[in-house]
Amino acid sequence: MRIAMIGSGYVGLVSGACFADFGHEVCCVDKDPSKIEALNRGEIPIFEPGLDDIVANNVREGRLTFTINLPEAVKNAEAVFIAVGTPSRRGDGHADLSYVYQAARDIASAMDGYTVVVTKSTVPVGTGDEVERIIREIRPDAEFAVVSNPEFLREGAAIADFKRPDRIVIGTDDPRAQGVMNEVYRPLYLNQSPVLAMSRRTAELTKYAANAFLATKITFINEIADLCEQVGANVQDVARGIGLDNRIGSKFLHAGPGYGGSCFPKDTLALIKTAQDFAAPIRIVETVAAVNSQRKRAMGRKVIAACGGAVRGKTIAVLGLTFKPNTDDMRDAPSLDIITALQDAGARVRAYDPEGMQAASALLTDVEYARDAYGCAQGADALVIVTEWDMFRALDLKRLKTALAAPVVVDLRNVYRPEEMRKNGFTYFSIGRV
Ligand SMILES: NC(=O)c1ccc[n+]([C@@H]2O[C@H](COP(=O)([O-])OP(=O)(O)OC[C@H]3O[C@@H](n4cnc5c(N)ncnc54)[C@H](O)[C@@H]3O)[C@@H](O)[C@H]2O)c1
Repeated sequence: MRIAMIGSGYVGLVSGACFADFGHEVCCVDKDPSKIEALNRGEIPIFEPGLDDIVANNVREGRLTFTINLPEAVKNAEAVFIAVGTPSRRGDGHADLSYVYQAARDIASAMDGYTVVVTKSTVPVGTGDEVERIIREIRPDAEFAVVSNPEFLREGAAIADFKRPDRIVIGTDDPRAQGVMNEVYRPLYLNQSPVLAMSRRTAELTKYAANAFLATKITFINEIADLCEQVGANVQDVARGIGLDNRIGSKFLHAGPGYGGSCFPKDTLALIKTAQDFAAPIRIVETVAAVNSQRKRAMGRKVIAACGGAVRGKTIAVLGLTFKPNTDDMRDAPSLDIITALQDAGARVRAYDPEGMQAASALLTDVEYARDAYGCAQGADALVIVTEWDMFRALDLKRLKTALAAPVVVDLRNVYRPEEMRKNGFTYFSIGRV
C-alpha cells in the first residue's frame, strides 16, 4: 500500500514508521519544515524508545520518506491518514479542529484516484462527516471515503502498542474503504489483533470513551488515596485488593499527582463539551476533570505542608518533569502546576529530568536545571519526586541524604517504601500511605 501520513508528531511519526516496517510505502508529511529537515538528516524530533532504529531502517530500505510537500505525498497514496493535533480550543475547551479541517482541504485539492482519507487524530463525533463535506465541496467529482481509525498508543511504549495493539478500531460503512483498511492492517490481522468494524461516529466516540474511562479510574484511586491518608490506610494495598478482581483490573490504579499529558486533559474536556452540546451531559467525567485539575496544584500545597507550612526562600528539588516516564512530552504535565504553586509561595525550584528539560524550559520560568538527581538535591530543603523515571527508583539514599540540606522527601509516585525511607533518616511523605 502507498500511505501518506499528514502530521509527523508523536502519533504520525510512530504510525508512519510502523506502517513502513510492515512493508507499506509511507510518506510522512508535516507543515513544520524544521521537523522534516531534522527527519531528513536522520534526527528524531521526539524522544520515543525504539523509534530511531525503526525510522533509520525503513528510510534506508526506501519505504519511509519525509516531506513538506503534501500534494506530492497525497497524489500517489491509496490511504491518507490525518494525524495532526487536536488541542483544546482556547476559551471553551472544545477540540480545536482547525488543523484537521485544513488538512482535509489540502488533501481534497491533491487527491488523485480513489482515496481513503483516515482520521487518526482524536476527533469529536461528527468530525468525519464534516471532513467528508469539506472534501466533497472542493472535489464534487472525486472518488473517496472518510474513515475513522482512532489511535490508542501510549507515549513511552508507542512502538509496542502500535505493533501489538489490544484492538484496532475501524469506523466506516463503506465496504470498499473497509477493504483498503483491512489491507493496511493486514500484518496485524495476521498477528491476531482484534479488528473492530463499526460506524464512523461510533469509532470517534469509542476513543473518547476509552480515555475518559481511564482518566476516571486514575481519579477514583487518587480520591481513595486522599481518604487513605485521613484514615491511616494504604492505597497500594487497596489498589491491589480491588485490582485483582478481573471486573476491575489492576491497570491505572496507581495513585499520584493527577493525570496530565497530551491526551487525557484535552480529551475529557472535549467529551464533556460534546455531551453537553447533545444534551446528554456526562457528569461523572465533568467531576473527574474538575477534581483532577484541582489536584495538581494541591500537590504543591502538599509539598509546602511537608516543609513545615512555608517555602519562601527555600530551595525545592524536583525530580521528573514530563507527564510520565520515557517521553519528552511536557503537555499538561502535573509538574507545571506543582512548580508554579511552589514558586507562587516563594520557593526557588531546581529540577532534573532525563529527557524533558528542553521542553520544560519553554514552559517554565526561573527554574534552575540540574545535571543529575544528586546535583538537583544538593543543598535543597526538600526533594519532590514528580515523575517515576526508572533512574529515580533506586537512588543512593545515603548520598541523597548527605546532599539535601533537610532530609524531606515528598514522593508523589510512591516509588519508595515509607518504612525504608524513615529508617534512612528521611522525613517522608507519599500518596495515600502513612
Ligand atoms: N500523543 C499521543 O500519545 C496520542 C495518542 C493517541 C492519539 N493521539 C491523537 O493524535 C493526534 C496527534 O497527536 P500528537 O501527539 O501526534 O500531536 P503532535 O502535536 O505531536 O503532532 C501533530 C503534527 O501535525 C503537524 N500538522 C498540523 N497541521 C498540519 C497540516 N495541515 N499539514 C501537515 N502537518 C500538520 C504539526 O506540525 C505537528 O508536527 C491528536 O488528535 C491526539 O489527540 C495522540
